[in-house]
Amino acid sequence: MNMKGNDPLQFICAKAEEYIPVYVKDDSVQLIYLDPPFFKQNILKMYNKDTKNMYSFSDKWKSLDIYLEFIEDILVKCKSKLLNSGLIFLHCDSSANHHLRLLMDKVFGEKYFVNEIIWSYKRWSNSALRLLESHQNILIYSKTGKYKFNRVLTGYSPTTNIDQILQARERDKNGIVKYKKDDNDLIVSIKEKKGVPLRDVWEIPFLNPKAKERVGYPTQKPIELMSRIIKISCDEGDFILDPFCGSGSMGIAAYTGNCIYLGIDNNDDAIRICNKRKRNYHISQSAVKDGNYYNFLNLENEIKSFISSINAIPVERNKGLDGIYSSAEGFVGIRFQRSNESVAEVIALINKAAKEKPLIKKIIIKTHDSDLFEIIPNDIFILESLSYSLNKIIEPIDNKTVIGVCQG
Ligand SMILES: C[S@@+](CC[C@H](N)C(=O)[O-])C[C@H]1O[C@@H](n2cnc3c(N)ncnc32)[C@H](O)[C@@H]1O
Repeated sequence: MNMKGNDPLQFICAKAEEYIPVYVKDDSVQLIYLDPPFFKQNILKMYNKDTKNMYSFSDKWKSLDIYLEFIEDILVKCKSKLLNSGLIFLHCDSSANHHLRLLMDKVFGEKYFVNEIIWSYKRWSNSALRLLESHQNILIYSKTGKYKFNRVLTGYSPTTNIDQILQARERDKNGIVKYKKDDNDLIVSIKEKKGVPLRDVWEIPFLNPKAKERVGYPTQKPIELMSRIIKISCDEGDFILDPFCGSGSMGIAAYTGNCIYLGIDNNDDAIRICNKRKRNYHISQSAVKDGNYYNFLNLENEIKSFISSINAIPVERNKGLDGIYSSAEGFVGIRFQRSNESVAEVIALINKAAKEKPLIKKIIIKTHDSDLFEIIPNDIFILESLSYSLNKIIEPIDNKTVIGVCQG
């Protein structure tokens, strides 16, 4: 790769089609993430209330042919920069995805199509006489077919047959999958529960208008989405090229994933935002993603199911309270301990939140050991969470993200 100096995170203001052929070395990039204008035939604008600036870029084209010529040119230039093990991700939406898929086939070859990710999210309804659009498309192609791909395994869906989880399977001589039996005709159990491969439909929320991660740039993508792309396609130290970097979301994800990154954008506002973000960035973690069942036993789900199982009122956006239980004597505040908190910190948070609220008792649900000594005030009661109690009896295996390398 050609990087100026040793900075592993660089943002350059330039036209991607001019910069890449000159400054990026051939066969050097593991991941190319292309998030070009989508052919919206509009000027995309967004107001940033902190800087009081209006940021915008043009997505207006004289014709579809001119747009497609522009994209084809950049795809050809990018292809020569990809490593043989590399992958290219092209982000688009229904405005032109049908044309772009054919272009990708033309430049990379139909047989090198890997996946189409559907990035799905919730949106406010509109009044148009059609279904509410709530997804974008990300096309993945490889350069050679022999690409690096980190398998990510996720939890089983609640509807999975229990035998499939516990029992080993094999193909018989006719190629039919059957449960495996040993020489004594007894069922062979699976030693380690592996999980199911990550699906190609990704439910990751759009950044909400109040999210700290938001920088006020139109079409800003969530870092969580970017990190997932990196996770399946890169190892630490790999080089990522982002020819339409906009506000630099992929750059921040690359930085946190210890990859080397070059972002290019021809809009100097965008590069200014990227460089500012480099000094101070926020990453929003969404609690509700992938329909929740991939994170079946995570804390957010445990909190929600506990709160609803006792008919308490869930409390959102309050640092010190997760729920309010209405008892015969009066209201009781409930707060779960998060993984990065000690019990003492939770006591301070629930006390602060309860100030000037008519709570007769406060309950903290302890989720892990954290404090050497616990000094518990009289009006606070400690319960142990179900998973904490369970983990004391049974040692859990970390099966959320098993990573391996498959040469395709
Ligand atoms: C869809 S936005 C990228 C958004 C970005 N992924 C983010 O998360 O903020 C597309 C970007 O392409 C930039 N752009 C348009 N034409 C370009 C060109 N010829 N070279 C480089 N950047 C270009 C625009 O300025 C815009 O910032």
